[in-house]
Amino acid sequence: MTDLATLLEVGGPVAALGGGAAYARARHPGVYWSTLGLPVSTVRLLSSYGSVMEACGLTVAPSRLRVLAVKATTRREVRPVPPRRGIIRPTTTGLRVRLRLAPGQEPADVATSAERLRHAWGVHAVYVTTIKPGLVELRLVGFDVLRQVRMPRKLRPDLLRVPVALREDATPFVRDYRTVPHQLTLGATLSGKSMYLRHLVAGLARQPVALVGIDCKRGVELAPFAPRLSALATDPEQAAELLPVLIKEMEDRYDLIKTRQGIAPNTPDEEITSDIWGLPEHERPVPVVLFVDEVAELFLVATKKDEERRDEMVTQLIRLAQLGRAAGIYLEVCGQRFGAELGKGATMLRAQLTGRVCHRVNDEASAKMALGDIAPEAVSAACAIAPERPGLAVAGDTSGGWSRIRTPYLSLGEAAETCRESAHLVPDLPALKPFRPGVPVRPPVEMPGPVVRPRPVTD
Ligand SMILES: Nc1ncnc2c1ncn2[C@@H]1O[C@H](COP(=O)(O)OP(=O)(O)O)[C@@H](O)[C@H]1O
Ligand SMILES: [Mg+2]
Repeated sequence: MTDLATLLEVGGPVAALGGGAAYARARHPGVYWSTLGLPVSTVRLLSSYGSVMEACGLTVAPSRLRVLAVKATTRREVRPVPPRRGIIRPTTTGLRVRLRLAPGQEPADVATSAERLRHAWGVHAVYVTTIKPGLVELRLVGFDVLRQVRMPRKLRPDLLRVPVALREDATPFVRDYRTVPHQLTLGATLSGKSMYLRHLVAGLARQPVALVGIDCKRGVELAPFAPRLSALATDPEQAAELLPVLIKEMEDRYDLIKTRQGIAPNTPDEEITSDIWGLPEHERPVPVVLFVDEVAELFLVATKKDEERRDEMVTQLIRLAQLGRAAGIYLEVCGQRFGAELGKGATMLRAQLTGRVCHRVNDEASAKMALGDIAPEAVSAACAIAPERPGLAVAGDTSGGWSRIRTPYLSLGEAAETCRESAHLVPDLPALKPFRPGVPVRPPVEMPGPVVRPRPVTD
């Protein structure tokens, strides 16, 4: 009897704890990591570090001095030496530790063992980055951070830099227009392209930037952001009128830069500029970001008559992509496919769009259109994205690498609210005034009752 009581007394709480831990792990992986996962993995790492490194072939033979010292002081056998380990730094999603490589080792040696390290220490993934020659950082990620995306809180907003998604190694993916001026985002329908755009619009809305939209789906994606947009075209006819205005704006900006360069022949070198960023702040034109959702709509024509207009638009887009950067005009293009089958100029425009993000696609050819020139593994990674995870994408890096990213969820209502709140930030660009979208009027608030009560007329 007493045995049974003891068993119940001890077993009950243990079972409850175990169940609670399993529940937390499945439902709140972040909480599980901070309370249980982190200490367990830290202990595993500390206790097995030497033997795991040896099993992965990351150790080197000890120096002769070390052999002598060990032999003189202890009776232990002389073991191979693992890379020197720095202190373990815990984070909310994993932990980091730096390793100093031994002579003759390279970061790729550690990277090839990443999968083995992750199993040895019981974490979701291990990533290796080079800090400086001879020093690498192991970034252990405790759980699948892309399942429920939470952006890190401490992010410094900067002009034309928008943290738009999370990488699988839990670092933010930042869309930086100053380094990657134009980008192409591809993906099948319902893969999360418009969500990506939504984040960019909401992020840029709070910055002194002019936002221009071309949304040939009759404006269903971009019209809710109308209060913050400087111009919006909702069909190819309007786009055909808007693009020449942007080209004119770009040419005016080049003229401005040119007059500045020609001020005086003895202007010091550092004041001669070839883009708007070199101009003094009060003269500098405001940057313009042009969002194009469903780009194929601009290319596809039904009649022979439309063909001329299409060719003009495509040429104008190519010119904006070629020359826009220095004038502070940036392109953000979204589409389902973007290949030669769209017709003349499509591949030429694509070549100008440096940044590439590829959401889920239906066939390999589409993924190749986005990532083919970056890496073959990136193409297969994009083809492996499951439909249950909208927003998941493969992003090309400027360095030639690639990573999996996912945007957090942001409702259209929230993004539209951000745009309404920042409507006062719409910059003054006279050329775009005719294209400023009419702000939808909210339905008038119903009065609780008539202010003046009707009184029967009596005489
Ligand atoms: N990161 C995300 N997390 C959760 N749901 C998402 C995410 N991205 C997109 N979705 C959902 O997937 C659906 C399709 O997204 P959308 O951006 O409209 O795709 P597309 O423009 O490629 O057709 C929407 O219902 C959206 O709410
Ligand atoms: Mg869409």
